[in-house]
Amino acid sequence: MSPGSTTEVCGDELAKKASAHNSPENVSEKETETPETIVEAYEKLNLGRDISNVFTGSTSVDDGEKKEGDQRNKTSQEKEMVETTAEEMTKSSNGVVAGNGDFEVVSNINNGGGGKTTSILKPSPSVGMSLENLVEVSNVASGKNGGTENASATAMMDEAWDLLAQSYVCFKGQHVGTLAAVDNSAEALNYNQVFVRDFVPCGLACLMKNNADVEIVKNFLLKTLHLQGWEKRIDNFTLGEGVMPASFKVSYDAQRQKEILQADFGGTAIGRVAPVDSGFWWIILLRSYTKCTHDYSLSELPEVQRGMKLILNLCLSDGFDTFPTLLCADGCSMIDRRMGIYGYPIEIQALFFFALRCARQMLKPEHDGKELIERIDKRITALSYHIQNYYWLDFTQLNNIYRYKTEEYSHTAVNKFNVIPESIPDWVLEFMPLRGGYFIGNVSPARMDFRWFLIGNCISILSSLATPVQATAIMDLIEERWADLIGEMPLKIVYPALDGHQWRIVTGCDPKNTRWSYHNGGSWPVLLWLLTAASIKTGRPQIAKRAIELAEQRLSKDGWPEYYDGITGRYVGKQARKNQTWSIAGYLVAKLMIENPSNLLMISLEEDKKITKPRLTRSASWTF
Ligand code: GLC
Repeated sequence: MSPGSTTEVCGDELAKKASAHNSPENVSEKETETPETIVEAYEKLNLGRDISNVFTGSTSVDDGEKKEGDQRNKTSQEKEMVETTAEEMTKSSNGVVAGNGDFEVVSNINNGGGGKTTSILKPSPSVGMSLENLVEVSNVASGKNGGTENASATAMMDEAWDLLAQSYVCFKGQHVGTLAAVDNSAEALNYNQVFVRDFVPCGLACLMKNNADVEIVKNFLLKTLHLQGWEKRIDNFTLGEGVMPASFKVSYDAQRQKEILQADFGGTAIGRVAPVDSGFWWIILLRSYTKCTHDYSLSELPEVQRGMKLILNLCLSDGFDTFPTLLCADGCSMIDRRMGIYGYPIEIQALFFFALRCARQMLKPEHDGKELIERIDKRITALSYHIQNYYWLDFTQLNNIYRYKTEEYSHTAVNKFNVIPESIPDWVLEFMPLRGGYFIGNVSPARMDFRWFLIGNCISILSSLATPVQATAIMDLIEERWADLIGEMPLKIVYPALDGHQWRIVTGCDPKNTRWSYHNGGSWPVLLWLLTAASIKTGRPQIAKRAIELAEQRLSKDGWPEYYDGITGRYVGKQARKNQTWSIAGYLVAKLMIENPSNLLMISLEEDKKITKPRLTRSASWTF
């Protein structure tokens, strides 16, 4: 089905739904909740009380601890809200080294990487801003100041909404998702399908806009749930019941004279890998939908409860694991080609954690639910301990690893995974600023993948997998290494790129993933929404604003490309599709959150004080 016909078929339906949604009884609470000022919005996010701190200086560890203490008191309101929600739901329950490490990489250390030579603590560009400046930032972003800059930003928003609408996919008269790209100049390949992960920013844009289009999100959630129920067979092997599709498409069966859905569970994808992220994104979006609409009836449907349980059962079943992290094949998430992310990649672990916490809010204890909830609670505790301790890297921790002893046995081992210090890549020694830190890409026996991955780090912030101190440090790192991680066009999916021998052996000589291209250090506009959400959550919206301004200079003019290439992201990607839907939606969501920070609540979870903090028995290399 062509995108054009898709829009036409559903046009009337859309108008009907939009007007129904505008009717007085349907005015969403979100609208009535819209804060009048940015201060109110930040107060709503429990950031209000912190604003003076946030804008008076860099957060030292001590400050951070104080802040954490503050947050402990102030987040009780949000907590209460979540608990009330859970209670209400229960009540109405009827219804990638130069040399010797794992990776040979290229970094832009000698290529004008701003801030690279910094070896002293310097104030962050974000500090010292007054609240008025923040209001100003918000006003500029929301177009309240008039002016040509705003006029072009507004025109860009209008264009983005139009393009998003053109990507809508219709099935039996209902909008059920968005095409990955509407680019008639390039071969469709699988870009004419609805990808689950791609739909997330699209769905969020629909939920966050004025006169939210909640129906498309609901239909998408139900249709993908229906696909989960299919028997999934690749060759002679049947996949787990809970696996969610990577993508689906609508075709017309001429014989039966009806529209049919065709789903891909990895069987027709490059590399034949099932998407581990799809199920997690599905749960996360379900929670966003519920948070936005207060329509608990969807998550309470027996088939929706069953769908969540099936996804979680896949991840929580007993096996040979000694780690609480999830063992994955290369190419099982957004980076869906061989890129050396097999093992325990941070993106999946953070999404896993996020999905566990979202499901925790939505699962009903009836039947086997109680037992599952107990398993979830235990996993959340173990997973957060594991990631917060073993994935965290800052200057002090890097120095500890640099001095690691090896061949330690027993429980008292400091170097738990027997990481050989000689495997530390040269680039990370140069890259690590004195201020800031991040969760590294992967941890497994004798292997630490020191590469930076944006999604895993932002999702850690949004799900509160990162402690408040770690979240602040991640944002510090982004500021300190702006030229490397943001560059000319936001945002680098991974840093640095693999090159030479390591590119050959790690990617299998993938011509699409050459250095600084596509998944191998390319820049992806879609990631803007994640950066924006993380910036707002940590009280640093000016970071997002800077990135959005960069995107606004090029994104529309370049035709909304899928990705950019080059060490600073200057060039439109070699094989990038134009009118890539999630680039469009990612921009919209970023703008909608900057304009109205309370939208963040749809995609963010506060720290859960009830997560048991196990006693630290190993601490020699732990710095917090
Ligand atoms: C590419 C990306 C994948 C995305 C798909 C559709 O395969 O690697 O993450 O979901 O395109 O946009």
